[in-house]
Amino acid sequence: MVARTQLSRLGLFDAKVPRYTSYPTSPHFKNDVTPTNFSDWIQAIPENSDISLYLHVPFCRRLCWFCACRTQGTASGEPVTAYVETLKDELSLLKRHLPRGVRLSRLHWGGGTPTLLSPDHMRDLSATVREVADFADNYEFSVEIDPNEIDAARLDALFEAGMNRASIGVQDFDPEIQKTIGREQSFETTKRAVDMIRDRGIQSLNADILYGLPHQTRSKIVDSVQKLLSLSPDRVALYGYAHVPWMAKRQQMIPSDALPRPDDRLDLFETARKLFVWDNYDEIGIDHFATKEDGLSVAARNGTLRRNFQGYTDDTSDVLVGLGASSISRFPQGYAQNAPATSAYTKAIRAHAFSTVRGHSFSEQDKLRARMIEMLMCDFRVDTSELVRDYNTTETEIRGILERTNSAFEDLLVVDDTGLFVPPGARPLTRIIARSFDAYDLSSAGHSSAI
Ligand SMILES: C[S@@+](CC[C@H](N)C(=O)[O-])C[C@H]1O[C@@H](n2cnc3c(N)ncnc32)[C@H](O)[C@@H]1O
Ligand code: SF4
Repeated sequence: MVARTQLSRLGLFDAKVPRYTSYPTSPHFKNDVTPTNFSDWIQAIPENSDISLYLHVPFCRRLCWFCACRTQGTASGEPVTAYVETLKDELSLLKRHLPRGVRLSRLHWGGGTPTLLSPDHMRDLSATVREVADFADNYEFSVEIDPNEIDAARLDALFEAGMNRASIGVQDFDPEIQKTIGREQSFETTKRAVDMIRDRGIQSLNADILYGLPHQTRSKIVDSVQKLLSLSPDRVALYGYAHVPWMAKRQQMIPSDALPRPDDRLDLFETARKLFVWDNYDEIGIDHFATKEDGLSVAARNGTLRRNFQGYTDDTSDVLVGLGASSISRFPQGYAQNAPATSAYTKAIRAHAFSTVRGHSFSEQDKLRARMIEMLMCDFRVDTSELVRDYNTTETEIRGILERTNSAFEDLLVVDDTGLFVPPGARPLTRIIARSFDAYDLSSAGHSSAI
């Protein structure tokens, strides 16, 4: 690993940087992308092609204090039932615009907590999805599951609907940490959910855990990772806890003085990382781990790993349609985001219109920079020949960008005729390096810690 003093000098412990699940990042979206752009971009999808579909459920039964996701608490079923009806209407609207023969290579239900839907809601919603488009061969249908908010009837409904991948939120198993972050979830509750998922033959299980949590120490993260490994997940997302109380107000419940310092965050990450590697998981990009047979590992080995709003994916389709309040869609032409507030979203759909309020149309430069950042985040390299082949650029232009980046990083990187490579010891800097390819002004956007 590069010396701490050098990592510090290069900004690792101070910088606030995007996670680059899109480029440009969402704070740069403008209100010049409209429902008309959205429907034009839908209609431009080639007939008989495969796309991905994301459905957002912005409700939770409990509101965990650490959570920065856009979601609202609800104790009763009424707002959820009304929302499911709106989503179904939005799906019907999509069906009217979608070219013939389009199929779903990926379907993802995220949130919030999609598992707070009742089994009837789940059946209803999935039947409507299937009326819009059939699954492609080798489709993947994944659902975010809160282990506290799932039971046999709901899992049966999801399994019957075709779910073949599950993702559970764990965060950390330590009781003191759980109390401090307002998310109590015993190991037994998590194991019960995992056993129910496996009993139904759902082979692929992802788990989210966090480093950088209040009161987290090296021995606590060792204990949590070992408990998680005992459940044999196929994939793990090891996210850095983003403490942004000015944006996620609930986080004001978390005492800042209990948070680890940035260089302790690096230790926590490294400690967890080594445990996954010792257990024979492959490292995927900056913060994922997967078993050797998992699709992400295969994609990483083949150079076909991609990055989208859900993080890393082996999905290669050009179009990701996001439905539901606040959802973002990606098309070859640009990004389009739905109205974030459930009320505004519902109002638009009730009036039989898409609810697009903002987004971004790609310039040629955007496409080039987006791919450079994606290559870096996925493969820790930038491949000059691919860029020259696929984008409006030259070897000289790319070489210039890469050399400027390398000198800004004190020649820690490798730049040659093939492109740029980030050696393993410099990988904690990856998001900061990606920022050097970002042509937008990042000063005003509230991003999270670089480590
Ligand atoms: C939208 S949540 C859905 C998970 C599901 N509702 C649950 O609670 O199990 C997806 C993941 O986002 C991650 N997440 C939420 N807030 C975060 C934060 N402040 N920093 C880093 N990751 C966060 C968590 O790991 C969480 O499991
Ligand atoms: S972590 Fe999951 S359950 Fe908790 S508030 Fe966030 S989305 Fe809701």
